[in-house]
Amino acid sequence: MISSPDSPIPRNSPRVTIVGAGRVGSTLAQRIAEKNLADVVLLDIVAGMPQGLALDLMEARGIELHNRLIVGTNDYADTSASTIVVITAGLPRKPGMSRDDLLKTNAKIVVEAAAKAIAHSPQAIFIVVTNPLDVMTYLAWQATGLPRNRVMGMAGVLDSARFETFIALELGVLPADVKAIVLGSHGDLMVPLPRYAHVNGVPVTELLDAPTIERLLERTRNGGAEIVQLMQTGGAFFAPASATSVMVESILLNQSRLLPVAAYLQGEYGLADIVIGVPCRLGCGGIESVLELTLSDEERSALQTSAQAVRQNIDRAQEVLAGVNS
Ligand SMILES: NC(=O)c1ccc[n+]([C@@H]2O[C@H](COP(=O)([O-])OP(=O)(O)OC[C@H]3O[C@@H](n4cnc5c(N)ncnc54)[C@H](O)[C@@H]3O)[C@@H](O)[C@H]2O)c1
Repeated sequence: MISSPDSPIPRNSPRVTIVGAGRVGSTLAQRIAEKNLADVVLLDIVAGMPQGLALDLMEARGIELHNRLIVGTNDYADTSASTIVVITAGLPRKPGMSRDDLLKTNAKIVVEAAAKAIAHSPQAIFIVVTNPLDVMTYLAWQATGLPRNRVMGMAGVLDSARFETFIALELGVLPADVKAIVLGSHGDLMVPLPRYAHVNGVPVTELLDAPTIERLLERTRNGGAEIVQLMQTGGAFFAPASATSVMVESILLNQSRLLPVAAYLQGEYGLADIVIGVPCRLGCGGIESVLELTLSDEERSALQTSAQAVRQNIDRAQEVLAGVNS
C-alpha cells in the first residue's frame, strides 16, 4: 500500500498523538518516527502548521530509513485510536518567568486537550509535558477520568538527565555511564538524590566532594532556566523530547523501565491526591507500579515541601478553571 500524509494510518501500527506541534512536540514526533516506534499524529491549533511539519518529516523518511507515517492535523477526529497521547500544548517560559507563571493559560489548554483527546482515544495512555508539569498532569488526570496508571507527566527523566550530564562533564566520563534520579516536582523544589547517583556502580559521593555535588545540584535545579536565559525565546526542547520518547518507548515496547515519572499518589511516600515525581515502572499498562524508596528525613521533608507547593498550585488552577466554567 502506498501511503501519503492524507491517507489513513494502517491499523496494525501503534499511533502516538502529540497535542501541540511546537518545539517539544515536533522534535518528539521526529524522535518517535526515527526510532521507528510508532506512527505519529501531530495536532495544533495553528492551521497548516502541523500539516507542514508532518510533510517535512515524511520527506525525511527515505533518508532516515524508516516507514512511519506522520500526519499533521487541527482536528481531534484524526487522532482516534491512539495508543499514547502526549500533551505539549501551551506556552513555554520567557526569561525571568517561573514554570508556575504559566499556570493560568496552560490549565485551560491542557484540560481542553485532554478532554478532546480521550473522547477519540478512550484506551490511550496520557503523558503530559506542558508546564507547570505536576499541576498539568493532575488536571489531565481529572479531565480524562482515567485510572491513575494511565496518566503521567514527564519531568524526572529530563531532570535526572541534566544531573547526569553535569556529573559526566565534571568527571569527564561517558554520559551513558552516569545514572542519577531526581524526584519531586518539576521546579526549584525538585528533589535530587545524590546518594543514589553513580558512575557504572561507583557512587558519585566517592568521586566528588560535597561542595561540588551541591554546585551540580544547583545547576540541575536551574537547568531549564539556564537554557531559557540563554535562548531568550522559549525553552529547552531537544532533551525534553528525548526524555519523553524514552517514556513512550518503555510503554510501547513494554520494557518495564524504572523511570522517575510524575504520578498520581494514593498514600505512597505519605502523600495522597497529588501528582509528583517518583520512581515508576513503565510498561504497556502505563504506570505498572510505584517504587517506594527509603528516604532520609531530609529527603522526605524535601519531598513534602515539594508536594505542598504542587498542592497550592493545583488549588490555584482549580480556582482558575472554576472561574472559566462559572
Ligand atoms: N515537562 C518538562 O520537562 C518540559 C520541558 C520542556 C518544555 N515543557 C513545556 O512544554 C510546553 C511546550 O513547550 P514548547 O517549547 O514546545 O512550546 P512551543 O510554543 O514551541 O509549542 C507549544 C505549541 O502548543 C500549541 N498550542 C497552544 N494552544 C493549543 C491548543 N489549545 N491546542 C493545541 N495546541 C496548542 C501552540 O500553537 C504551539 O505550537 C511548555 O508549557 C513548556 O514549558 C516542559
